[in-house]
Amino acid sequence: MRPRATGKVFATAACLLLLVSFVAAQSAGKLVIRADQQGARISPNMWGIFFEDINLGADGGLYAELVKNRSFEFPDALMGWAEVRKDGAKGTLRVMNENPVSPANPHFLRIELDAATGLGVSNEGFRGIGIASSATYLFSVFGRTADGGSPRLRVRLVGNDGRVLAEKQIGGLGREWKKHEASLRPGTGDPKARLELTAEGAGALDLDMVSLFPEKTWRNRRNGLRSDLAQLLADLKPGFLRFPGGCIVEGRALENRYQWKTTIGEPAERRLIINRWNNEFKHRPTPDYFQSFGLGFYEYFLLAEDIGAEPLPILNCGMACQFNSGELVPLDQLDPYIQDMLDLIEFANGSVTSQWGKKRADLGHRRPFGLNMIGVGNEQWGTQYMERYEQVAKVLKAKHPEIQLISSSGPNPDGKDFDLAWNRLRELKADVIDEHYYRPPSWFVQNTKRYDNYNRQGPKVFAGEFAAQSVRTGSPDNRNTWECALAEAAFMTGLERNADVVVMASYAPLSGHVEGWQWTPNLIWFDNLRSFGTANYYVQQLFGVNRGDFVLPVEFQAQPSGTSPTPSVFASATRDERSGDIILKVVNSSAEAASLDIEVAGAEKLAPSGTMITLTSDKLSDENSLDQPRKVAPVSSPFPGVSRQFSCTFKPISLTVLRLHK
Ligand code: AHR
Repeated sequence: MRPRATGKVFATAACLLLLVSFVAAQSAGKLVIRADQQGARISPNMWGIFFEDINLGADGGLYAELVKNRSFEFPDALMGWAEVRKDGAKGTLRVMNENPVSPANPHFLRIELDAATGLGVSNEGFRGIGIASSATYLFSVFGRTADGGSPRLRVRLVGNDGRVLAEKQIGGLGREWKKHEASLRPGTGDPKARLELTAEGAGALDLDMVSLFPEKTWRNRRNGLRSDLAQLLADLKPGFLRFPGGCIVEGRALENRYQWKTTIGEPAERRLIINRWNNEFKHRPTPDYFQSFGLGFYEYFLLAEDIGAEPLPILNCGMACQFNSGELVPLDQLDPYIQDMLDLIEFANGSVTSQWGKKRADLGHRRPFGLNMIGVGNEQWGTQYMERYEQVAKVLKAKHPEIQLISSSGPNPDGKDFDLAWNRLRELKADVIDEHYYRPPSWFVQNTKRYDNYNRQGPKVFAGEFAAQSVRTGSPDNRNTWECALAEAAFMTGLERNADVVVMASYAPLSGHVEGWQWTPNLIWFDNLRSFGTANYYVQQLFGVNRGDFVLPVEFQAQPSGTSPTPSVFASATRDERSGDIILKVVNSSAEAASLDIEVAGAEKLAPSGTMITLTSDKLSDENSLDQPRKVAPVSSPFPGVSRQFSCTFKPISLTVLRLHK
């Protein structure tokens, strides 16, 4: 998560030189797809999603709540709120904790008003509140009156220019806490609106859990997700959803670790904590970043189910982030951590009569979620991790041999800690080991053969976090360039060719708010109303949508003129079981088109017309943006002239998916 000590830094210019040097090697060659040699089965989980609440990924992002600090639980209880005093209204605002809505959420706002005029607060949202025109918004608040009087509450959506976009009045507040709701239909939208609440009428009014959601959330769920962002995830056709991180699993210290049990049930009962990315980077401080857990473990399981992805929860194994405090739970005190894992398995898969299975059913999901894997710790390393993994695995394997355990090899894809992890985890007969690569694009290009000679007998590999870094890991100047995406695509052909060893892979991090990020690059970017997939996103999508079920070997035979020892064409092929399609993926990293003779050895009869999907751009520095969201995006067209031997020209700096139909 920090610039890696061992990570080499390659400037973009160096990578460009590397690619340009390929030009000399670029000539027609021959590529043979061995359709008669069906290779390994590709896991349906192969290409997935890594989700973390970083860069306002959950609160302020995927979680559709528009009110920041809705429960007045930030340490600065009025952060995000500003006082509103209409016509010199007299009275006071106080944050109190007497008889709260829930002990998990002890603070609330009291508005004491002397006369009938308006006194209250306005919420700034997460970098403003995005209000779309012609959409409906659902407002809710826990409210009660105190100390006599019967003030009413006026709720307004106010534009950046002060114009009232919509308003409602809520009356009938009683002496007990009660949830009050109103729907608001603004005529015009504003990406930077605010929510204004004013009490009218003398008396005291208590407010808590102030909430505003778009009516239209993903699958129209209450307490739901932003539909454009969830749709972008669904469109990746992901095989798995890894959640909730990332370093937030670990916490900077253990008290800030992610604890799944505090994230389910009524949102008002979910205890807020600081987000560990709040103050991680001095160059990107985000003092208003907290975790409300409105998007909690139940919602993650639902999301995974909705988008057809296997859930992959990652749980703390008694270690805080080793880049921060590195705090450890003594080995003889690990039981509560192991119990959390056992209880999670019961929550996800247990019968409705079990303690935790019943909680799932009570939340509305009687059917089990079909949990098959759990991550033991996030990005941990060293003997301290090995000892904790061993203890956890012993219990989990004894009680739940059906659950695959994901273990960690640390933050670097090589070096002392990496080797120690692999050696020990191999001895412990680990199921799947998570490897992370935040490296320059050249590393990805040079590592397309990384897994060709991996030991096939031991644990499998989860390429759990990867992203080409255009400047260096942790640099705020990293960009989601086409160069980075293309390098990742080349690397992914190597993962696909070795799908018997590499069983899962995911880009990281997943998303970032353009005004609220801490880490770059990210797969998806968004503001309050808009979102887009990067060039890297479309690479992931092309692999996810065109996965195939079996690897087919490919042999690239360069012509004599292609003398460069460094290839510029990278390829993998698979067969889709249902359609019978042969799917060829080719990355041409050269600045010139590559014309290849393709032989499909041993193929059944092929349809004369296939489908070609090309992802390319004019320049390696090109990127997508909010204003040009599809500058680098796939283009699909029929591809005529298919037979067992045919020619195909692959565009300069391109990823091409060629589907050959039966
Ligand atoms: O993806 C960002 C961070 O990188 C993750 O939280 C962590 O696992 C890694 O160090």
